[in-house]
Amino acid sequence: TMQIEVVADKAALGEVAAERILQAYDAGALQVLGVATGGTPISTYRELARRSDGRLHDIRLAALDEYVGLPADHPGSYTTFVREQIAEPLGIPHGQVGVPRAEADDLAAAAANFERQLQENGGVDLQILGIGANGHIGFNEPGSQVDSRTRAVTLADRTRRDNARFFDSPEDVPHEALTQGIGTILEARSILLLASGARKAEALARAMEQTPTAECPASWLQLHPAVFVVADEAAAASL
Ligand code: GLP
Repeated sequence: TMQIEVVADKAALGEVAAERILQAYDAGALQVLGVATGGTPISTYRELARRSDGRLHDIRLAALDEYVGLPADHPGSYTTFVREQIAEPLGIPHGQVGVPRAEADDLAAAAANFERQLQENGGVDLQILGIGANGHIGFNEPGSQVDSRTRAVTLADRTRRDNARFFDSPEDVPHEALTQGIGTILEARSILLLASGARKAEALARAMEQTPTAECPASWLQLHPAVFVVADEAAAASL
């Protein structure tokens, strides 16, 4: 039940994805938008801001994950990303934005609190996802089980290297994060998975074609009834 649309490049990906999000909103089916960070969804958020003309200001945003140990206002934090790339351009007030509170010294309590807030807000209607080169979604690294919940995780070396470009130096990338679990993500009513670039081709093929396994956490998405994939030609090359 994973449908896919293959588009030419990252710009086209952003147009198609933004259009789907706006369709959901205009159909009255989008109160809580689950948002991913990283380079891939930036064209989607830009298109969304351009095409929405401010009408998304009343939705809630729920982030997938956050680094542990960064102050919220750190330029590399996902709190900063969500504010600058999504909330501010869409005119969504701070009080409608939920990011796991990873500065908390009790990470288990912070994770439980985030899950409770998701429930209180009615759950995620549409979850945007990217995919890591190692098949991760959110920060669910290989080994993440299908029933995992929001929790503290240790980042894979490859993930830290891949994300070093958002920091002054590679050593500045935190070793730990709080992330929604696979089980949490699978509770979203619909999922929009975005993949761009040749670096993602192998992970996307495993996610869509391999029997679901914790070795490739994105492959658990095959168990969800409503996943729509938008990939550019480079990312779709191994399908
Ligand atoms: C990070 C995020 C993921 C994201 C992934 C891919 O690790 N935690 O949510 O999907 O990066 O990022 P990019 O789109 O920059 O390749």
